[in-house]
Amino acid sequence: MRSLAFAAALLLLAPAAPRAQDAAALYGTHCAQCHGADRFGGAGPALLPENLERLRGPQAIETIANGRPATQMGGYADRLSGDEIAALVAYITTPPATPPVWDMAAMRDTHWVSPDIDRLAAAPVHEADPLHLVVVVESGDHHVTILDGDRFEPVTRFQSRFALHGGPKFSPDGRFVTFASRDGWITRYDLYSLQVVAEIRAGLNTRNLAIADDGSVVAVANYLPRTLVLLDAATLAPRTIIDVADAAGEARSRVSAVYQAAPRGSFIAALKDVAEVWEIPIAARGAQDVRRIRTGEPLDDFFFDPAYRTLVGSSRGGSQTVVIDLDQGQEIRRLAMPGLPHLGSGIAWNWQGRTVMATPNLKDAAVSVIDTTTWELVRRIPTAGAGFFLRGHEGSPYVWTDAFLSRNRDTMQIIDTRTLEVVRTIRPEPGRTAGHVEFSHDGRHAMVSIWEMDGALLVYDAATFQLVKRIPMVKPSGKYSVINKITRSSGTSH
Ligand code: HEC
Repeated sequence: MRSLAFAAALLLLAPAAPRAQDAAALYGTHCAQCHGADRFGGAGPALLPENLERLRGPQAIETIANGRPATQMGGYADRLSGDEIAALVAYITTPPATPPVWDMAAMRDTHWVSPDIDRLAAAPVHEADPLHLVVVVESGDHHVTILDGDRFEPVTRFQSRFALHGGPKFSPDGRFVTFASRDGWITRYDLYSLQVVAEIRAGLNTRNLAIADDGSVVAVANYLPRTLVLLDAATLAPRTIIDVADAAGEARSRVSAVYQAAPRGSFIAALKDVAEVWEIPIAARGAQDVRRIRTGEPLDDFFFDPAYRTLVGSSRGGSQTVVIDLDQGQEIRRLAMPGLPHLGSGIAWNWQGRTVMATPNLKDAAVSVIDTTTWELVRRIPTAGAGFFLRGHEGSPYVWTDAFLSRNRDTMQIIDTRTLEVVRTIRPEPGRTAGHVEFSHDGRHAMVSIWEMDGALLVYDAATFQLVKRIPMVKPSGKYSVINKITRSSGTSH
């Protein structure tokens, strides 16, 4: 009797936290209709651990409790207890019991080609010069603005897939732009007729895409599953799934990024979990066609010299930066770069007759400038704070960098490529994050993002550093000038 009463009292006083199967049941009742029974997504994004890496615990709780304004994601604070919400967060950030499968059949099921694809307008349906267009990703509300690069006026704005990732890529003629989203959606858009022409889901968690130099093939780098996927660029029809594993076929690896190595006619991929760099022929039919370059550690951030003869790569956490000769297929140099260089934002220019490479540093308030022949550090240019992006243009003697990862994240700095000195510091909108610069096609204007929900794209005169125009946008992240990208301008990373 006594123990029964005691147990009943305990139950009343301290309701047990929901167990795992209760969390699954809660998910099935409240979430599955939008996020999918398998958590692969639907009307809402995928809820798998790889996809939620950036949504830390408290933010996930906040999202579920209060929802997201102006979206289908409502708040559950009135229906679910704090414990239930915590159990749901644990559930969606734990891998599913059966590892997710995304195979050829799943891909084909999601493949869509516009019925208009064979009768697209022969000329642009808008007034802007199509090669001067700038594609702006507004990550705050998952939209894309296509900007007239001469008048700096929006041509159109449309909803994208949730969380575009890794930078859109253009067809060699600049007519089509292809986007990748965090959840693996690949979308091809026509900049003449202003419509989506094909779409496919190439993975469940995707890092980026690259387009072959001849425009024929798209390569997609996936974290989940651990694959590289090749698609037909024109229709996005799937061609090949390459399982990414080490030479022995034992350890499988996430793919950090894939790049077009234009002069080599191939793709190059950075692997997160295996100490190999992959060179993939455009016509690869599987892992047997891949050229493996062994490295000491997995390298997951790359810079290529403009001729794609060498690659500079850094290991996770930046403990090592190495130079690899791509023809010899081996490491030729180790560099001392202590500030964690962001090689992916590296750019090259000519300085005193030699080609130098410059990168911001993720953990050091400086831009590092390195001679790409001797691989010696030429200059460490002190900046206002650790930065993320660096951009220049053949038409301008200046490069622009940010202090995105520091207290001074509202600050931009302009460096003279001739003197390797900061010549101007600007705070475009004090207290508001500024970052990511792209030049206009002629190098006469520099476009800066105010990286806030009520943000803007700021257009500066690239010679006088005066503000020319402010275009309101919703957390504009990347912006991409068609012609700078298709001509592989040395002032921008690719
Ligand atoms: C009516 C559809 C719908 C339902 C039901 C729903 N969601 Fe969502 N959810 C969405 C949409 C749409 C988004 C994307 C919102 C945005 O644009 O930021 C989202 C976003 C989220 C995010 C943020 C994902 C990210 O990467 O930023 C989480 C976490 C989430 N939902 C969890 C849940 C959970 C847990 C439940 C059940 C308790 C649930 N959702 C129920 C539609 C829904």
